[in-house]
Amino acid sequence: MTGGAGFIGSHVVRLLVNKYPDYRIINLDKLTYAGNLENLRDIEDRPNYRFVKMDICDFDGVLKLMQEEGVDGIIHLAAESHVDRSIKDPFTFAQTNVLGTLSLLQAAKAVWQPLGWEGKRFYHISTDEVYGALEMTHPEGIEPPFTTKASSGEHHLAYGEKFFTEEMKYQPHSPYSAAKASSDHFVRAFHDTYGLPTVITNCSNNYGPYQFPEKLIPLFINNIRHRKPLPVYGKGENVRDWLFVEDHARAIDLIFHEGKDGETYNIGGFNEWKNIDVIKVLIRITDRLLGRPEGSDDDLITFVTDRAGHDLRYAIDSRKLQRELGWEPSLQFEEGIERTVKWYLDNEAWMDRVTSGDYQKYYEEMYKGR
Ligand code: NAD
Ligand code: TYD
Repeated sequence: MTGGAGFIGSHVVRLLVNKYPDYRIINLDKLTYAGNLENLRDIEDRPNYRFVKMDICDFDGVLKLMQEEGVDGIIHLAAESHVDRSIKDPFTFAQTNVLGTLSLLQAAKAVWQPLGWEGKRFYHISTDEVYGALEMTHPEGIEPPFTTKASSGEHHLAYGEKFFTEEMKYQPHSPYSAAKASSDHFVRAFHDTYGLPTVITNCSNNYGPYQFPEKLIPLFINNIRHRKPLPVYGKGENVRDWLFVEDHARAIDLIFHEGKDGETYNIGGFNEWKNIDVIKVLIRITDRLLGRPEGSDDDLITFVTDRAGHDLRYAIDSRKLQRELGWEPSLQFEEGIERTVKWYLDNEAWMDRVTSGDYQKYYEEMYKGR
């Protein structure tokens, strides 16, 4: 696993370490600002788990580790993942997301090709943002053509007729999505050119525990808690398709084991929400859980200058994954968001260590001398 100390990676590591005692799970992570080993405190002493602090761009290091450990599967999540940072610093995104992925691909090819590809798998985790943005043909919302558990709650709308399918043209807009798109192309090129057994998934926005509070949902929960302004980009009309992170982790486990070589699968919940509606839900739930009167924090909403190149609408068609491998989200959005708000409020110490920067000392304290 790469990027296992991040948000999604930590859920995948936890799932695999608990579910497969006979596997040896190696978590390779550079521990950038987004990597937090406290996310894995509950499993860090398991005999089937090892943490290695390494940069995926370190080709020699990755090669040596793969040989030493006899690695036969890679689940690659390590990336720079925040769009706003990519707008300020695109080079880091090209370095990690493109060259880092290439470094892993080269190392996997060097180690596996002489052994034959049998039983090997390179699984690349990507994003729906590579497809660009969809039009909002129905700003008031229409009945979605397809529903899942995630979209089965009160709110039950789609904001356009088109959805991202696996056949869609790549049209990334942000430096983040351009770098992810480029890495997807390299993964396909290694499959088509050398026969490397690969699989790619493109997932929609995730939410849940352990997300770094620069992303909408944890940032806003923490701001509501401290009664700080909630900076809504533009008019808050942009639409995202939200998926609970543990449902993504389950999909990753399934696809790693049962996905077909060379295939791409989209992962999403048919669960579209305008940002402003998500924000209202967050305020309502947070206030209720904190015992504050309903509506007391509505005035925290502050409309600010829009994000440059802000994609209007993302909406995933994940029916291929449902049809071929039987995956569906297990959680309704209202249930998932309630659990998420509760988790952040119950784990204030985690949030405070992340926002103060103290979490970065954890590695030194826990792993020195190991
Ligand atoms: P994150 O930013 O929370 O975590 C990224 C992890 O990668 C961190 O632990 C970080 O230390 C590590 N990392 C970064 N650069 C590295 C490097 N050079 N070498 C080794 N490790 C490095 O990200 P996330 O939200 O958990 O996303 C994980 C993956 O899933 C990414 O590839 C992202 O593009 C993709 N994805 C995320 C979402 C989402 O909503 N968060 C949706 C779809 C796809
Ligand atoms: P984000 O969590 O950054 O994910 P992504 O950009 O990958 O979709 O943002 C989710 C949505 O929320 C996106 O439309 C931008 C918006 N947003 C705000 O309005 N204010 C904020 O402070 C942030 C971080 C995001």
